[in-house]
This record gives sequence, C-alpha cells and structure tokens, in this order.
Amino acid sequence: MESRLLLLLSLSLLLFINASRAQVPGFVSLDCGGKENFTDDLGLEWTPDDKFMYGETTNITVANATRKQHMTLRHFPADNRKYCYTLDVVTRTRYLIRATFLYGNFDNNNVYPKFDISLGATHWSSIVISDVNTVEVRELIFLASSSTVSVCLSNATTGQPFISSLELRQFNGSVYYTAVENQYFLSVSARINFGADSDLPVRYPDDPFDRIWESDSLKKANYLVDVAAGTEKVSTLTRINVNRDEMPPQKVMQTAVVGTKGDLTYRLNLDGFPGFGWAFSYFAEIEDLSSDETRKFRLVLPGMPDITRLSVNIQENAQGKYRLYEPGFTNISLPFVLSFQFVKTADSARGPLLNAMEINKYLRINDGSLDGTIIAGLVSNYPSTDWAQEGGDPCLPVPWSWVQCSSDPQPRITSIVLSQKNLTGKIPLELTKLTGLVELWLDGNSLTGSIPDCSGCENLKIIHLENNQLTGELPSSLFHLPNLRELYVQNNMLSGTVPSGLLNTNLIFNYSGNIDFRVERRGGSHIKIIIGSTVGAVVLLLATILSCIFMHKGKKKYSEEDQLVQSLPPQKLVSSSSEVATETAHCFSFAEIEDATRKFEKKIGSGGFGVVYYGKMIDGKEIAVKVLTSNSYQGKREFSNEVTLLSRIHHRNLVQFHGYCQEEGKSILVYEFMHNGTLKEHLYGPLTRERSISWIKRLEIAEDAAKGIEYLHTGCVPTIIHRDLKSSNILLDKHMRAKVADFGLSKLAVDGATHVSSIVRGTVGYLDPEYYISQQLTDKSDVYSFGVILLELISGQEAISNESFGVNCRNIVQWARSHIESGDIQGIIDPSLHNEFDIQSIWKIAEKAIMCVQSHGSMRPSISEVLKEIQEAISIERGAEARREGHSDDMSKNSIHSSTNLGSMDLGVSEPYVSFDESIARPTAR
Ligand SMILES: *[C@@H]1O[C@H](CO)[C@@H](O)[C@H](O)[C@H]1NC(C)=O
Ligand SMILES: *[C@@H]1O[C@H](CO)[C@@H](O)[C@H](O)[C@H]1NC(C)=O
Ligand SMILES: *[C@@H]1O[C@H](CO)[C@@H](O)[C@H](O)[C@H]1NC(C)=O
Ligand SMILES: *[C@@H]1O[C@H](CO)[C@@H](O)[C@H](O)[C@H]1NC(C)=O
Ligand SMILES: *[C@@H]1O[C@H](CO)[C@@H](O)[C@H](O)[C@H]1NC(C)=O
Ligand SMILES: *[C@@H]1O[C@H](CO)[C@@H](O)[C@H](O)[C@H]1NC(C)=O
Ligand SMILES: *[C@@H]1O[C@H](CO)[C@@H](O)[C@H](O)[C@H]1NC(C)=O
Repeated sequence: MESRLLLLLSLSLLLFINASRAQVPGFVSLDCGGKENFTDDLGLEWTPDDKFMYGETTNITVANATRKQHMTLRHFPADNRKYCYTLDVVTRTRYLIRATFLYGNFDNNNVYPKFDISLGATHWSSIVISDVNTVEVRELIFLASSSTVSVCLSNATTGQPFISSLELRQFNGSVYYTAVENQYFLSVSARINFGADSDLPVRYPDDPFDRIWESDSLKKANYLVDVAAGTEKVSTLTRINVNRDEMPPQKVMQTAVVGTKGDLTYRLNLDGFPGFGWAFSYFAEIEDLSSDETRKFRLVLPGMPDITRLSVNIQENAQGKYRLYEPGFTNISLPFVLSFQFVKTADSARGPLLNAMEINKYLRINDGSLDGTIIAGLVSNYPSTDWAQEGGDPCLPVPWSWVQCSSDPQPRITSIVLSQKNLTGKIPLELTKLTGLVELWLDGNSLTGSIPDCSGCENLKIIHLENNQLTGELPSSLFHLPNLRELYVQNNMLSGTVPSGLLNTNLIFNYSGNIDFRVERRGGSHIKIIIGSTVGAVVLLLATILSCIFMHKGKKKYSEEDQLVQSLPPQKLVSSSSEVATETAHCFSFAEIEDATRKFEKKIGSGGFGVVYYGKMIDGKEIAVKVLTSNSYQGKREFSNEVTLLSRIHHRNLVQFHGYCQEEGKSILVYEFMHNGTLKEHLYGPLTRERSISWIKRLEIAEDAAKGIEYLHTGCVPTIIHRDLKSSNILLDKHMRAKVADFGLSKLAVDGATHVSSIVRGTVGYLDPEYYISQQLTDKSDVYSFGVILLELISGQEAISNESFGVNCRNIVQWARSHIESGDIQGIIDPSLHNEFDIQSIWKIAEKAIMCVQSHGSMRPSISEVLKEIQEAISIERGAEARREGHSDDMSKNSIHSSTNLGSMDLGVSEPYVSFDESIARPTAR
C-alpha cells in the first residue's frame, strides 16, 4: 500500500530528452530503461533515459536477442494516463522516428501487453504483443512542425505499457517530401531490399539515414511469398548514382532480382493497410545489356487495369546504367494483402528487374486541442513542476491528469484542476483565454494579486479560488458570466463591495474570511448604477475606438468590387496611409527632359509600355525617363489627372515617380534612377557570370518586392493590381534594395476606359492562367506572377525558355512544380548559389511559390502571407549563415556596387508582351 502510494506520488511525467550525445548529427538513440551510455556495433551512440524518475526499468533476458538496447525497457502503470517522451527536433525538417518493443516477459504476467502509441495528438499505432521474444518495430516519417515532438504511451488495454528504444533520424532536404506532409505522416509499412546477399537488413552506416531495408530472403510469415519461378538474384560492385529522390543506399541498389522467365511476382501483408499510401520502386540497371537488348516491363496490380499501361525502361528512364530511377505513386489505395507483378513487355529482350521497394501509409495528422498553444504558454511558466511537464497535447489521445476536455475532434479544455499545487504569483492570464472552460480549481495555493477578468470564458460554471492570498476587488465581470453557478473565494484578502443586486439567485457564493470584503445589501441599486454607468462609458468608448479601427481596416481591405481597378473612377485612387500627399505631379517641360537625357542619348531599357532613357538633371539628380509608346492616350487633362494620382503612391519599395511631361505628342513619365538595374539581369543576364547574388540577398529582394506589392494591394484604396509583375520590373538601387516599377501603368496604357476589362495584359510566363481564361482581374493575379519570380530567384532560370526545362516544357512553373512535387528541390536550385544556403529556407520559398502558382486564384495565398513566409525564410537563413560564418566569403559576393552597369529598366525586349482582346484569348494558353 505504502510503496504504491509513493510510486504514484513520484510519478513525474516528464521524460525530456536532450540530443547532445548523438554522435551522428540529427540522430537520437535512446535506450529506454538503460543505465549507461554505449556505442553499438553499427557505431551508433546510445543514451539511457535515466533522467526520468518515474516509470520503472527492468532488465530482460531473451535467448536470441542481440542488441543491447533491447535488453532493458521502461514500463509504466496501467492507468488512464499518457506517458510522453519529448524529443528536440529542428522545425520544418523531416525525420524518421522508430520505436521498438521487446516484451521479454518482463512482468511475469499471463497476459501480453496491449497499448497505444501516439506522436503528438495523432494516434500512431497499437502495440499488441503476441510473442515474448519478438521485437515489435514501428516507424514513422514526419515533418517537424515545432521544435519538439512527443511520443506518448497510453490506453493500457491489457498488461503494462512499455518501451525498449526510441530512435530519431533526421533526413536531408527533400527526402520524403510529399505535398500533403502538413496533413499526413507516413507510417512505414514495407521497405524491402531485393536480391539481398543475406537475411540481415541494410541500415546505418550503409544507409546514412539509418533506414532499415529488410532483406527479401528474410523468412517471415506472409512476407514476400508466391515468388515466380525463374526469379534470380543479381548484384554488382559498381557504384550506383543514387543521389536523388529518396537516396536509397548503394548497397541496396547494388543488388536486385530479375525475372528470367519474364515476370516477377510477390505477395505480402501490409501492416496498417488497407488505406491510402505512398508506394515507390527503386530501380537501377545493374546488368550488362548488349546494345540491341532492351529491358522493358510493366507493373500489374490485381484490379487496377490503369496501372498496367505504364511501362518501365530503367536505362532510358534513369538516363543511363547504374543510375537510380524511382517511379511510384504518391497516393494509391492498397489492400492489406498486396500481390504485385512485374511483367516484361512483348518487345523486351530481358525480364523485369527490381532493386528495392518502399510502401508507407498515410496517417492523418490530428491537429490536437484548440487550446494547445495557450496551455503551452501556461505550462512553460512552471518549468520545475511535475504537473506542467506531462508532454504532448493537453487533450489527446488522453488529457493531462489535471485537465478535462470536450469530446470534439479538435477538443477544448473544459476543466482545470490545480488545487493545492503550491502555485505562487498571480493567477495565470492564459486561463482567461480558455474559452471552453467550465470548471476552474485553483484553491489551496499561494496565489497573490487580483482576480483577472474572465469575461471571455462564457461557459464557466464553477470557480474555486478559496484559500489563496488574492487581493483587490472582485471583477464585476465574474457576475456577468451567464453560466456561473458556484463561486468560492473564501479565505483570501479581497476587498471592496459587491451589490447584492448583481448576485444571481442561483449562485452559490462563498466569500467568508475576506476581511475587507462585503456584499452591499441596502442601497445596492445606487452602487449598481455607478458601476453600471462607469462600465457603460468605458464600453461605449471602447466600442467607438473599435469601430474606428474596424472601419479603417475595412477600408483597407478590398471588397469584391474594389478588386477591379478599372471598374472604379480614377478619382477614388487615393493612398490611405498617412503619407497622403496633396501635391500634384510635377510637370516637366520637354526641353528640360531633352537636356537631362542629352536628347535621349542613352537608352537603358524598353518594354511593354515604352522606351526608358537615362537622364541627369541640372541639380545632379539621376532620373529614368520613360517615353510611352502608345500615342492614343486620353486627352491631356485625363493623363495629367492620372499621373497626379500615381504620384501620390509613395512607398519605399515602389520606384519613386517624379513627374511627367506631355508635349510634342509624347507622353513621358519621369522616375528615380535605379543604379543596379533589374532583378532579371542579376539572375540570368551577362552580369551573373561574374557575380551572382547570394540566397539571403535574393530573399531580401523578394521581401522588398513583396512589401511594395502588399502596399499596392492593401495600402491603396481601391486596391491597385500591378498586372505586369516580372523580374524585369523589380529594380535594384545602389544598396541592392528592391523596388517595384511600372505599377499603375497598365491603366494608363489602354485606349479608353471602356475596353479595359476585355483586354488581357501581362507578360508571357508570368500571366495568371485564370485571369487569361476568365479575364477577371484580382490581386491573386499578381500573386501568381510573384510566384513565378520566386521560382526565378530559386532557380536562376527565366520564366520561359526553350532549352532549360527539357522536352515538352517551356515554362518554369511546370518544370519547377514537377521537381518540387517529386521532392527534388536540388534539381531546381540555381547552381551559382554554390550550396551556400540553408535548404529549409529554400524549401519554405519553394513551397510558397508553388502555392502562388496554383491554377485557381482562390487557392493562392495573399501577398501578405507570402511576405510572412519570406521573412521566416530570412530568419532561418540568417541563423544558418551565422552558423556557417568563418568559412564563407558571402559578403564579398553580395555587395555588387557596379560602376559599369548604368542600370536599366524593363530590359524585357525578348519577352513577348501579351495584349489582345477576348476574341483571341483561348484557355489552352499557359
Ligand atoms: C552519457 O553521456 C553524456 C554526454 O555525452 C553525459 O552527460 C551523461 O552523463 C552520460 N550518462 C551516463 C549514464 O554515463
Ligand atoms: C540491469 O543490467 C545492468 C547492466 O546492464 C545492471 O547494472 C543493473 O543492475 C541491472 N538491473 C537489474 C534490476 O538487474
Ligand atoms: C528470437 O527468435 C524468435 C523465433 O524463435 C523470433 O521470432 C524473434 O524475432 C527473435 N528475436 C530476436 C531479437 O532476434
Ligand atoms: C484503447 O484501445 C482499445 C482497444 O485497442 C480501443 O478500442 C479504444 O478505442 C482505445 N481508446 C482510445 C482512447 O484510444
Ligand atoms: C545531406 O545533403 C548534403 C548536401 O546536400 C550532403 O553534403 C550530405 O552528405 C547529405 N547528408 C546525407 C546524410 O546524405
Ligand atoms: C488519396 O486519394 C484519396 C482519393 O482520391 C483521397 O481521399 C485522399 O485524401 C488522398 N490522400 C492523400 C494523403 O493525398
Ligand atoms: C512550494 O513552493 C516553494 C517556492 O516555489 C518551495 O520553496 C516549496 O518547497 C514548495 N513546497 C512544496 C510542498 O512543494
């Protein structure tokens, strides 16, 4: 009895692991129940989980067990709690996590244990022990969404939950990237090395990520049976080029099976299935085929005739011998009993060959309690108390011991019981943000300060604050809680008066033992009025302020109508920022312009709207002079009216407009001169051969441009849609800060307001396909174009190219999407970045860019969301840069202060500019 009680008392639930001892970077190997550090035969360093003071450890003896980490385990009481290991991870990085369970009859029990494990709030697997000597292994591939990950044991159905080892293996960059990785984990079901030379699995160090590739000759029930006659092993010692996709190990790829009679067949049970999964085959041609021989074959899955049409020719698909080719299905429905067959095609000389195969099941991620973030903030204030360290989600799969939750799929916390937990300080404000809270127990602590406003917790029914040292008055909001039934505040040091009129007749209210506190029984209505009117005044004031803020915000947000620039009269085009200028645009004389440009001597660019010349004013100010091409502008007054409005748009990331000139039949716009020319030139112009811009600089340029666009979209009323964003419209100043050029011009460049909506404008390669088809212009069309610019920044490739993207692909979007979706980010990264970047920050931008170029505008993010992502990528990159410091000459590479480059605008001579009306706009164009 006594010892049991002690055990329960000592149940501190934190199992927090520090990865400092991991020898291989990104590896954590935890020997549960172990006593000492050790290095195993593979060279992996194991650390005991000996820092935990609860659960119990046991040594087991299993006749044929060979691995030391399996000889110890930690087991937990069979109660209704969860027991969580919390591991440090790097956010936005993919990991393999592996948990092992070797029962070894540790508890001499007649029933085998059965319990659940979860990763965070997501149920991972049920562990059902059916044999004393068999190691149960569970593996999961996941993208870390925060800096820690929790593995929890719970739901002891029979026996006691236990665990033998826990391993965390970090993946590189794009390995196992899936488009749905924010919604699904990959639960590993089969990873098979075909043609293996022994029964032993291939793993670390042969596999740098320590995946376990099971041998196909391993004898296991329902594992690779029904093997076709004529199946033979082949192998090679030649190195295989595996540096792509999932990077399977050399050793796995150097062996294979060949169906010498024309087919390969297998059947196996897929744990976790039926369901939707990720299934890939790994091929490399490792036999010597004579020049007239081919090896072509098809995959046949029973009941899936579609699949049969696909045929594989390894050597051709991999573009050579001894090279990896990894075809597969990112989402395929598979049964529990999988039979598959590779059959040679009629025109093939050799039978099919298979090196390896991997099948993972999609596991839907449970986002966990809606209160997860709030409560995480609360417990982080109590780093040294047991109750705050239970780990994992507060509600799922089972709630913390002091918490109760609603039963919704995304639960809310309904009850908090922290009675007699020795709490000091003020009542944590986080508690007032738990909007689902029904019961709050904080009695018997040493809480001080006043009682906070709980008016956000409308469901509160029962509040226990008694036996603390709370001071101040009871907030009247407490009595306005519509559901409050019980309120206990006795034995505190509260003061003030509460009018009895406020007290609900059904309320149980205990306030004894507070020296200066009383309930006003007579004259209550008088006090009530005073309190009421004060509160009323404050509420009124607040309401006024709020409605101002809201109206202000409402103005900044575009409404459906506001999205169409052209649908609104130009008079409404005003900046809503405080910078609203009252000046009219400066009108230059033609003579002035002629002088400044020395009679249009130096042409620095040309584009859709006109030719740009360099100029220098008498006062030394450098200018860029744009002579608009079209001479069919509206009358002089309309022109000056519109440029006046244009001149009111000021933002540090928009090229400054200085003035205009309309004389001699010419329409001229004058801008600030940008010394470093266009982004385009720096990405793939002749300049890049000497010095390319670093990744961090590219991110800063993206940030600057996004800020400029954000201002056009949200800072101007009505919204200004640029309509012609491209890398040649992003200009760089002396300090390589970027500004957006040519905004608002598309509006000027039309011959009369009535036709605006029927004309599609933009530049091929940047043009939003949805706008092209529907001709409905929204700010999301700019987001599309900006997505293309982000892809250019990553890849250093032009938006449209006849050569760069391989056959049948001229378009950067198609090309980049296919690489990114197949996880091959390396394949699109600009080689001139020389690997000086953090791959995570590139991933961040690549993923956002792909969102920006979604075919439907509604699926694209707003420019503000994109900006936020860019800023996060910048902070990742800065962090990485700081770590790289010392062996990098980035800085010298970054600062391009070109004296030879006079700068230019709109050097888009080669870009076909689209301007046609609806009769020829066909939805086929991309
Ligand atoms: C294991 O190694 C780590 C550091 O490498 C050390 O801090 C820890 O005390 C060691 N544990 C044991 C049980 O020796
Ligand atoms: C378990 O084995 C370790 C050595 O590996 C030993 O130090 C420890 O005393 C053993 N524990 C029990 C309970 O036998
Ligand atoms: C021990 O042998 C049994 C079969 O006798 C096998 O199922 C089990 O996997 C083996 N355990 C280990 C750790 O090798
Ligand atoms: C606990 O396990 C049982 C049996 O495996 C299962 O039916 C039940 O749903 C599980 N409970 C929870 C809360 O996961
Ligand atoms: C991860 O990628 C980097 C660079 O892309 C490479 O140098 C390194 O060897 C890779 N690590 C592993 C374990 O493959
Ligand atoms: C896989 O496809 C099915 C059916 O199309 C769909 O319901 C499911 O959400 C997809 N799963 C993933 C992970 O994409
Ligand atoms: C209560 O908290 C105080 C200060 O944090 C500490 O000194 C004391 O030991 C705690 N008492 C108990 C019973 O935990």
